[in-house]
Amino acid sequence: MGKIHEETMRKYMQLPGEIAECGVNHGSSSKIMVRVAAEFQRRIWFFDSFRGMPHSSVKSDLLRYPQGRFDNASADAVLKIVGGYSKANIVVGWLPQALSGLELRFSFVFLDLDHYEGTIQTLRMLWPMILLGGAILCDDFFEDKRDLATQAVREFIDVTGNIKHVRVDEDQILLEKLC
Ligand SMILES: C[S@@+](CC[C@H](N)C(=O)[O-])C[C@H]1O[C@@H](n2cnc3c(N)ncnc32)[C@H](O)[C@@H]1O
Repeated sequence: MGKIHEETMRKYMQLPGEIAECGVNHGSSSKIMVRVAAEFQRRIWFFDSFRGMPHSSVKSDLLRYPQGRFDNASADAVLKIVGGYSKANIVVGWLPQALSGLELRFSFVFLDLDHYEGTIQTLRMLWPMILLGGAILCDDFFEDKRDLATQAVREFIDVTGNIKHVRVDEDQILLEKLC
């Protein structure tokens, strides 16, 4: 569980698209992201089940973050943090399904769902919604491990062309869609 790398997010504010955080919890990164979005007048979307982590068939993910972990966060509490900005939207529901039907084009997304399954499924659905030159910053990626988002991101990079990937801090990786 990391925190948004503000400097990285800022690089993508030159593009016209929307912004999102997938996996919000109490909103500690949301607070930073909404401030940057407001500065650049970009629409921003916050996605979370607000029921905590889902079940997973990956044992190591469940051991680290069991079903229901983080279920003490609420959309109302996050609304108090981001609701002052009129272009902020909170979507309560499970990813990736919560993205369906939304015709959005993102310049920057912070993906922080922790588990393998949520990460790979959401990456697949989000990628076509990313603008050329835009990026997804994935949390919980570790060079020397396979669990959490790590394996999902590796598999995604292997089958998807046109990605520039750059490590950001020890536990995050940035996937940029090449023009
Ligand atoms: C590590 S926390 C997010 C932390 C937050 N990004 C921050 O920087 O403070 C992970 C969040 O993802 C949510 N989550 C995990 N899998 C999900 C899924 N498939 N759909 C929706 N929300 C999910 C959990 O409810 C939890 O609040």
